[in-house]
Amino acid sequence: MTVKPKIGIVLSTTRAKRFADRPAQWLLELAGKRDDADFEIVDLRDYPMPFFEEDASPARIPPGNEAALRWGKKMAELDGYVFITAEYNHSMSGVLKNALDYAYTEFNRKPATFVGYGAVGAARAVEQLRLVLAELQIASLKHTVHINAIESIGMMMEGKTFADYPYLADAALVMLDQLVWWTATLKTGREMVEADGAQPAIRAAG
Ligand SMILES: Cc1cc2nc3c(=O)[nH]c(=O)nc-3n(C[C@H](O)[C@H](O)[C@H](O)COP(=O)(O)O)c2cc1C
Repeated sequence: MTVKPKIGIVLSTTRAKRFADRPAQWLLELAGKRDDADFEIVDLRDYPMPFFEEDASPARIPPGNEAALRWGKKMAELDGYVFITAEYNHSMSGVLKNALDYAYTEFNRKPATFVGYGAVGAARAVEQLRLVLAELQIASLKHTVHINAIESIGMMMEGKTFADYPYLADAALVMLDQLVWWTATLKTGREMVEADGAQPAIRAAG
């Protein structure tokens, strides 16, 4: 592996009063204590892409939209992802699905995991995300963090903080250990394939 892996902590909602910033900053602080990977926040607010309106999938042609090109470049720079995800009607937010549709090869052969929040820790959104990520050739990991109803309501409405729920940090540390392992391993694998001059990940029919 040539350089330290880079992992993006992706904020997946954009509304003005979103909760997403709190879990994202919390995770960044925990992750910042590691020296085996670099972490950065990626905020979908900084990539205001229109509803997908390109001529074809980005698996075939690069998007023409400026924000989408920047988004793809950022996804390519990163070696792994943590999606900080809410649950909107038992699924991922529309803005996140749209963003995922705007890139393809940039995601291939990289790992991802999730910090979900909501009534059931966004577990349903995470399961749906796994289906979408499989098509993007992202390996989604077992270990996740779910901020369930008690903690979500506590933090959103009762002035509680992450420090009131220390088991969330316990889960996050295991998740980060796993994510860094997968990120480093797949990065090494991609670099070996590139060094051999072999084909990068290609899209099979369907
Ligand atoms: C359109 C919409 C749909 C929602 N659907 C769900 C849901 O299915 N399950 C759930 O646990 N919370 C749901 N919620 C509540 C969200 O968990 C809560 O508003 C959360 O703060 C949203 O994330 P955000 O603050 O980052 O936007 C929904 C909220 C919105 C705005």
